Amino acid sequence: MAYIGKINELLARMTLEEKIGQMTQVEKNSLTPEIVKRFFIGSVLSGGGGYPIENTLQGWVKMVSDFQEAALQTRLGIPLLYGVDAVHGHNNLSGAVIFPHNIGLGATRDEELVYRIGRATAEEMAATGVHWNFAPTIAVPQDLRWGRTYEGYAQNPQWAAKLGATYIRGLQGDRLDDPLSVLGTAKHYLGDGGTTWGTSRMLFPIPPGAPFEGENNVFAFTIDQGDTRVDEATLRATHLTPYIAAIQAGAQVVMASFSSWNGHKLHAHHYLLSEVLKGELGFEGFIVSDWAGIDQVSPDYHQAVVTSINAGVDMAMVPHDYERFISTLKQAVEQGEISPAHIDDAVGRILSVKFKAGLFERPLPDPEYLSLVGTAQHRQLAREAVAKSLVLLKNDEQTLPLSKNTPTILVAGRAADDIGLQCGGWTIEWLGKPGPITPGTTILSGIRAVLPHPDGVIYDQNGLFKQLGDQEAEIGIAVLAEMPYAEGFGDRADLTLPPEDVLLIQRLRPRCRRLVVILLSGRPLILTDQLPLVDALVAAWLPGTEGQGVTDVLFGDLPFTGKLSYNWPRNMQQIPLQGGMDPLFPFGYGG
Ligand code: BGC
Ligand code: BGC
Repeated sequence: MAYIGKINELLARMTLEEKIGQMTQVEKNSLTPEIVKRFFIGSVLSGGGGYPIENTLQGWVKMVSDFQEAALQTRLGIPLLYGVDAVHGHNNLSGAVIFPHNIGLGATRDEELVYRIGRATAEEMAATGVHWNFAPTIAVPQDLRWGRTYEGYAQNPQWAAKLGATYIRGLQGDRLDDPLSVLGTAKHYLGDGGTTWGTSRMLFPIPPGAPFEGENNVFAFTIDQGDTRVDEATLRATHLTPYIAAIQAGAQVVMASFSSWNGHKLHAHHYLLSEVLKGELGFEGFIVSDWAGIDQVSPDYHQAVVTSINAGVDMAMVPHDYERFISTLKQAVEQGEISPAHIDDAVGRILSVKFKAGLFERPLPDPEYLSLVGTAQHRQLAREAVAKSLVLLKNDEQTLPLSKNTPTILVAGRAADDIGLQCGGWTIEWLGKPGPITPGTTILSGIRAVLPHPDGVIYDQNGLFKQLGDQEAEIGIAVLAEMPYAEGFGDRADLTLPPEDVLLIQRLRPRCRRLVVILLSGRPLILTDQLPLVDALVAAWLPGTEGQGVTDVLFGDLPFTGKLSYNWPRNMQQIPLQGGMDPLFPFGYGG
């Protein structure tokens, strides 16, 4: 192990409390710098939507630095690791560049692009003092009803492996201890993308204001956090493959999955965590639990902590009740249920990663880097990524590309002019949110910007265009979007196009000679019945803040090059897709 001398020296000086502090990760809303000092907290996280009261660069720098300075004031001055989910850019920070979600990057098939996105994301994170990203998700999603499908690059392990590993290389740069490098996390180990519909037991309290319904204000997940029912050979071939690539790429952290394998929780899985990952694959970094993942191991919290830590979890994402975790773990060690050697191994792994990341030399952010956030260069990169992610599914009579001299273009759909819908979940808020939630360019403003006569663009979000009377325009563009969601809140039994989107298509159809539909979604949706009404259909996934990337391709400044990284089913019976079925558009399809 790297830094073995320094680690042993520290371990020899550390009390049990100090060691347990290193194994404890707390959500920033449950914490103050004083508590960091008192409990020697080793890691702090911002969960989804975990921005400071003032969501600005300065607000972030202050929040992160205040915690870090507290850690540095402890007896041994071990710096803490601040972690966030920067899953498509530094997405909780207002003004950060938001890149397409991974499903879109999967469609680009462009490793070099994904590398550069990793670099840019690392720069924006490092500017705020954050050196740990809970990304990439290297899941291999097998069922489109899963609310996390868009977090995965592809339904196929080879592409999930390639792009996930490349993204980790991008985040971590040439040297992990470079001030502009951040740690990646390979998640969620193992089989998160393979869970069976109907096996989730998760009942999640609906966050205030979120547009979801459930009995007693609780939302029932259906597949997210469920049970992956496959044999070991399938588990390995489909779901383990990306981890092998991630470790080769230098991944230092692996996050355990909420899900189970054949009824056995991953957070309690000694064989998969310790024997396969740390043993067979030689993983030298540390395993972090998922959000309160340990609590799910047993109704008896003491038992849950003992089982999970002994199974191989090194750091607990607690995230709230740190006193309970700390006292439980302490008691378990004192009673001999967890050995001191096991604790030293976990703490040694965590310290080793902190050393490798250069945290001891440079714990605090350098104000010089503040100018790296939201730059024109990063926006240009995101725009390029959007353009490359678009998949052309239908293009009758070469409707696309459109001519910039089209006299009148009708644009319909709320999603045409909505940054929040373009970005999807994990953007400013955990579940995302419609509206102007962060600066960016909408598709509508992108269209207007590219045309010599922007007045020719008529926008009616409801697609009625009453002012036009009986007139027929040459081109109509309907932009449809899934409402934003994250995790199990996106589990959906029925992926058919919702009635309001069907209505929008029906309204716009008679008003234009050629109808173009742009779909913003975290996964393929069922639109077989609408297809005959549409002249051109573009899958734009969840493109992020740079909507101009859509217009670059729509008007022919750049070609369509994206390819489907998931099968596009004809109907719900084709989900999950099994061999022998004939999808509407197969994996790899793209005009
Ligand atoms: C947090 C997310 C977290 C989720 C737990 C939310 O309240 O903001 O970061 O992923 O809970 O599943
Ligand atoms: C999610 C993880 C995420 C964590 C912290 C959990 O709910 O499953 O992917 O990293 O929250 O936000």
